Amino acid sequence: MQDKVEGGSERARFTAMAEGTQEDWNIIGGQFAGFAGGLADRVLAHLRLLDGDFGGFPIDRLQHSLQTATRAHRDGRGEDYVVMALLHDIGDTLGSYNHPDIAAAILRPFVSEELHWICEKHGAFQGYYFFHYLGLDRDAREAFRGHPHFDACREFCEKYDQAAFDPDYRSEPLEFFEPMVRRIFARPINSIYAKRRPAA
Ligand SMILES: [Fe+2]
Ligand SMILES: [Fe+2]
Repeated sequence: MQDKVEGGSERARFTAMAEGTQEDWNIIGGQFAGFAGGLADRVLAHLRLLDGDFGGFPIDRLQHSLQTATRAHRDGRGEDYVVMALLHDIGDTLGSYNHPDIAAAILRPFVSEELHWICEKHGAFQGYYFFHYLGLDRDAREAFRGHPHFDACREFCEKYDQAAFDPDYRSEPLEFFEPMVRRIFARPINSIYAKRRPAA
């Protein structure tokens, strides 16, 4: 991952935002596009941190991510779903106690409310398959019973996430998914920092 973010040499002149001018914000706004354009690269670099991270599982977390995404892709899921599947555990490095929240926050500007919900809640739904071995409640997902996306999240875990620990499964490599990640992260649809796009 790059240590420093390269940017233009022009700088705003204010020392407190309350003193900012249009000229200042033209400078900052002009450099934001270049920085935001590197988001997909930063996300992919962070995903690669999962390489070699086994944590006792049969395959490492990067391979689990690739297998989850590959299974979703081969099952005919759309590009936004596949990217969500690829990134659903990207928060494992920093969010050791809440990793689904990290991935959901990263994805939120770029995916539907349903895909965001699946990602954010997958921890509780995935727990159905192992929480009882850790003295936890495997039925934690029942707190969400009746929610419009309950079945979609249950299905994500059942078909793709809990099934993606097979060392013999032939997953696509990360390079296969890179163009999808770049396309999804080039188009924010829900952000307080981007103007709303007119409906297509
Ligand atoms: Fe997870
Ligand atoms: Fe997972």
